[in-house]
Amino acid sequence: MAQSVRVIACCLVLAGKVLAQGTFDPLAYVDPLIGASNGGNVFPGASLPYGMAKAVADTNSDSRQGGFTMDGAPVTGFSTMHDSGTGGNPSLGNFALFAYTNCPGGDVNQCAFPKKTRAAFGRFRNSAVSARPGTFGITLNSGIHAEMTTTHHASLFRFAFPSDRPDQEPARPLILQDLTDLADSRQDNATVAVDPETGRITGSARFLPSFGTESFVLHFCTDFKGADVEDSGIFVDSRASTEVHKLTISRSINGYPLPGGAFVRFKSATEPILVRTATSFISAERACEHAEKEIPDFDFTAVSKAATEAWRRKLSPIRVSTNRVNGSMLTNFYSGIYRTMINPQNYTGENPLWSSDEPYFDSFYCIWDQFRSQLPLLTITDPAAVTDMVRSLIDTYRHVGWLPDCRMSLNKGYTQGGSNADVVLADAHAKGLRGGIDWDDGFAAVVKDAEVEPYDWCCQGRGGLDSWKSLGYIPVQDFDYKGFGTMTRSISRTLEYAYNDYCIAQMAAALGKTAEQEKYTDSSGNWQNLFREDQVSNWWNGTSTGFTGFFQPRYLNKTWGYQDPLNCSSLDTTSVCSLQNTGRETYESSIWEYGFYVPHDQATLIDLYGGPAAFVSRLDYVHDSGITYIGNEPSFLTVFQYHYAGRPALSARRAHFYIPRFFSPAPDGLPGNDDSGAMGSFVAFAMMGLFPNPGQDVYLITPPFFESVNVTHPLTRRTARVRAVNFDPSYEAIYVQSATLDGEPYTKNWLDHSFFTEGKELVLTLGRNESAWGTKIEDLPPSLGTYQGFARGDGSLPRSTFRDFWRKRAGYDNQFGKLNNRLGI
Ligand SMILES: *[C@@H]1O[C@H](CO)[C@@H](O)[C@H](O)[C@H]1NC(C)=O
Ligand SMILES: *[C@@H]1O[C@H](CO)[C@@H](O)[C@H](O)[C@H]1NC(C)=O
Ligand SMILES: *[C@@H]1O[C@H](CO)[C@@H](O)[C@H](O)[C@H]1NC(C)=O
Ligand SMILES: *[C@@H]1O[C@H](CO)[C@@H](O)[C@H](O)[C@H]1NC(C)=O
Ligand SMILES: *[C@@H]1O[C@H](CO)[C@@H](O)[C@H](O)[C@H]1NC(C)=O
Ligand SMILES: *[C@@H]1O[C@H](CO)[C@@H](O)[C@H](O)[C@H]1NC(C)=O
Ligand SMILES: *[C@@H]1O[C@H](CO)[C@@H](O)[C@H](O)[C@H]1NC(C)=O
Ligand SMILES: *[C@@H]1O[C@H](CO)[C@@H](O)[C@H](O)[C@H]1NC(C)=O
Repeated sequence: MAQSVRVIACCLVLAGKVLAQGTFDPLAYVDPLIGASNGGNVFPGASLPYGMAKAVADTNSDSRQGGFTMDGAPVTGFSTMHDSGTGGNPSLGNFALFAYTNCPGGDVNQCAFPKKTRAAFGRFRNSAVSARPGTFGITLNSGIHAEMTTTHHASLFRFAFPSDRPDQEPARPLILQDLTDLADSRQDNATVAVDPETGRITGSARFLPSFGTESFVLHFCTDFKGADVEDSGIFVDSRASTEVHKLTISRSINGYPLPGGAFVRFKSATEPILVRTATSFISAERACEHAEKEIPDFDFTAVSKAATEAWRRKLSPIRVSTNRVNGSMLTNFYSGIYRTMINPQNYTGENPLWSSDEPYFDSFYCIWDQFRSQLPLLTITDPAAVTDMVRSLIDTYRHVGWLPDCRMSLNKGYTQGGSNADVVLADAHAKGLRGGIDWDDGFAAVVKDAEVEPYDWCCQGRGGLDSWKSLGYIPVQDFDYKGFGTMTRSISRTLEYAYNDYCIAQMAAALGKTAEQEKYTDSSGNWQNLFREDQVSNWWNGTSTGFTGFFQPRYLNKTWGYQDPLNCSSLDTTSVCSLQNTGRETYESSIWEYGFYVPHDQATLIDLYGGPAAFVSRLDYVHDSGITYIGNEPSFLTVFQYHYAGRPALSARRAHFYIPRFFSPAPDGLPGNDDSGAMGSFVAFAMMGLFPNPGQDVYLITPPFFESVNVTHPLTRRTARVRAVNFDPSYEAIYVQSATLDGEPYTKNWLDHSFFTEGKELVLTLGRNESAWGTKIEDLPPSLGTYQGFARGDGSLPRSTFRDFWRKRAGYDNQFGKLNNRLGI
């Protein structure tokens, strides 16, 4: 393993050099500000790929989850720890700095110290913001210009002060550092100290994670360069003193952390003042070590250049043709890929909870969002990182007891549905990630999810396992005395647990564990137990949707409960559908949309829905009536599920329906929270034209949004290529007429991961009309059950990975006619 890592390092450096001489720079198409307003909640600041240090200006917007926003809210500080794209509470934002050119009358007490009063000095115009990978800059209306860049654990800020000011007072800049965080979650007894000689500020405080349990302690170390120190001190609330240099501060009894921190004042502002600050979960000393080691010379240009190069290396394996394509498409694409490498964060060496030689990654925020396309994208673009992440997940299982569904700031986060780390592991295993991963422990971890109910299934594993095993579904109003979590989401949990079990079965199959393979394949069919064949769906005005057969909640006594299939859709304005204890039986999505969440057995689902034509009408309905919300992850796969009904052309059309209409390369361009980088990965995969069905070695083929896409596998160095013949930049010719794979005719509408590892070439000939390509049974992606009711081609039935044990449902297998009519064949 160690040796292969060295080889990679050598080749990536080489790739960087070659690129430097070339003409194509992927970073020219990255705009970190996409998603910085309208609820995208992205972190748009300076970071390395997966870096722990994330420097940006923080605003006081309600949408400040990622720190900075462009919605008119003023800046209140400049901090160095962030998450990206999350909902819920703002995350991190610890130990904000703020700068003044002088305090009126030279009196430090005339400067504004608390975050709330600083806001008056933090106004800015959006045109005064600049962001590119690795650096972020902003000029405040006060004339202060702040730039920032980072190494892995340390941030370097450069504050330049205005030379002519109306007050005419001599510039004696004051820079303060605050002990609060974005969410005001600081607990009791935070400490800070400032060295009167050097101005070094060190400190520690305990905070709460933004979507999880318990708490964490973070330490910091800050040094200055650029001007001589005049004096320094600490502040409490709005009062400061140059006589006091140490502070231990209460949270205070009113439930709001009392403002407190330290400051340093400088003799002049003729040169910019550089502020180097690092954090550590271990100790303030460790934070100082990081800072001294990573940024020894305060060389802003060198640090910023290294950060830029790190990003260029990460993005250079993906190279699309710029020929005839609108630049906004390129920016959408590369910025999406960029955002997949902000979170998770690499805290290796920074985990105080257990000692281990394994990597430690944090900000799996949350796996429910990341498993669908973000982590699968990284498996293509950065498999070494995913290998480290999987090792970290397995190590978390070893030391905490279960795989996480959500983890941030060293704490357990709240589980949203299934034990979806099972899908992450199955996906990595199916795609051949091996180096250093202990797959025996990995398999034990997913089996534990399926077998052992944790006392706190709020935050790991699964709830309701007794019912799951005895009844084959999660009942609404379950009786569960063994473990505790929010007793809602019985339908979405049943569907997700079923798919989790399929993923375990798939790993078991690959590991030669036949008994487990059969057992979990069996329980992966539990989704059928909540399918109510006679359930109708009417609009709230009474008009029928025209569809019958939906998932429904079911009680312990096996009788049906009821949830309107349209509730929790994006058109439902009243239901409570998240993790509230008054939540519904589907999580953040409707029964309509969850109705497609059987990723392993589309054949049986299509059958239940009345055959491929009826399935297609249902998919059209979910998209065209506004039921689905592309700004949340359960919608992602539904865009491409037409493939399973033999209509890959409709997946292509649907991808263009959403992009760019719902995703544009502008600060307000995202349809919802980026969720770490989930939205970014959706855009990237859709535009690349190969969408994953995560947990399976399957990519669904649609034409790329570019004339060609080259992806060089970072480990094998082979280049996979997709080339579109008759490429049409107006996107009218988006239907595959024929295809070749490595020169041979290829009619399957999907391919597997060897495409990337072996560097194959897929050539798609496009046309303006739907064709017969990829429509026959033998062309369809794998499914557990048997496809029925399709036009038959010449070949045999598709090879399903597993034996077909699903009972054939009478009455559904005669849909030949409808599909044939549709296809005109
Ligand atoms: C804060 O310090 C006081 C005095 O040492 C101690 O009694 C109290 O338990 C501490 N609080 C916390 C949360 O550590
Ligand atoms: C992709 O690779 C092929 C073969 O090396 C090359 O001809 C083509 O120019 C590349 N395309 C891009 C966009 O770099
Ligand atoms: C490129 O796309 C943008 C955004 O959709 C659009 O405003 C612009 O007109 C397009 N430019 C061209 C040359 O088509
Ligand atoms: C994570 O950080 C560790 C320690 O700094 C480093 O060895 C490792 O390469 C990093 N992994 C990734 C994927 O960046
Ligand atoms: C009822 O609502 C649906 C969905 O908004 C709409 O399509 C339909 O026309 C409405 N029917 C009546 C009678 O208003
Ligand atoms: C089954 O349980 C539900 C919920 O407790 C109850 O309303 C219903 O009457 C029960 N049905 C039967 C047949 O026992
Ligand atoms: C379902 O959604 C509709 C539309 O928002 C709402 O009127 C109705 O009250 C909801 N039903 C429940 C049970 O929340
Ligand atoms: C596409 O289909 C339309 C309508 O069926 C037909 O008029 C047209 O000629 C077709 N175009 C091509 C290129 O086959």
